[in-house]
Amino acid sequence: MAMKLKSPAEIEILRENARLLQEILQRLVEEARAGVSTLYLDALAGRLIAEVGGRPAFKGYRVGRNIYPANICTSLNAEVVHGIPRADRILQPGDVLSIDIGMIRQGFCADLATTVIIEDAPSEDLVVVQTAQEALWEGIRAARHLARVGDIAYAIQRYVNSRGLSIVTNFVGHGIGRQMHEEPQVPNYGSPGQGPLLRDGLVICIEPMVANSGKDLIEVEVQDDNWTAVAPGATAAAHFEAMVRIRASEELPELLGCGVFERVPSR
Ligand code: MF3
Ligand code: CO
Repeated sequence: MAMKLKSPAEIEILRENARLLQEILQRLVEEARAGVSTLYLDALAGRLIAEVGGRPAFKGYRVGRNIYPANICTSLNAEVVHGIPRADRILQPGDVLSIDIGMIRQGFCADLATTVIIEDAPSEDLVVVQTAQEALWEGIRAARHLARVGDIAYAIQRYVNSRGLSIVTNFVGHGIGRQMHEEPQVPNYGSPGQGPLLRDGLVICIEPMVANSGKDLIEVEVQDDNWTAVAPGATAAAHFEAMVRIRASEELPELLGCGVFERVPSR
């Protein structure tokens, strides 16, 4: 299936959805504090998404024979992505919490992620979060009209590996539109000049996943719940995701929505 370039009318819906979802994610970040359960955040996300006339994109999402059961993903510490919210998972000081959220509204998807530290964390964990955040900007800066997907991938990998941290290889960014996952796949490691050409009108999610596993490239281990993806040997993992529109008129893409907030990562 080919990449779907978006019309101005489609981009307008994606822009609105991304803006709304970013506001919702910010609310969740404000509520994420010690003593709160991850299921509380999930329920709040469900209410906020409904309030803007959307529905959760993750709930019921199928990967193989697994169906995702919640509104958001809440991944703690060495968990990278796809952690399932639970009533008995109470946030503790020092937790590194990634929140990933998806919404479908007016026939189009939005998908964003952020990572926050609950109160204080050791500096080795803090640097994982800061590096993932900075890697996202590196990726965004490389997302230019007539550049290639490999240019984004390389920019992210170079930055993360230069800090001695690990890139998760078995999850990737992606195009987004009527489907949450469209072409092209946008890996977080690769070679400049390789892969599909980025073009004006393409909307993609860039989403570096970083951990301190002690090697450049890692694969996650999926837990017995068939979802929670853990970085081997890591104390912390971080995940940030933005939605950008490639445009020919400017060097940088338009930032439709982004999971980087001022209060992150130190608050
Ligand atoms: N943001 C995640 C992704 O892009 C969504 C994962 S949860 C799922 O894959 F249930 F939807 F898979
Ligand atoms: Co995504």
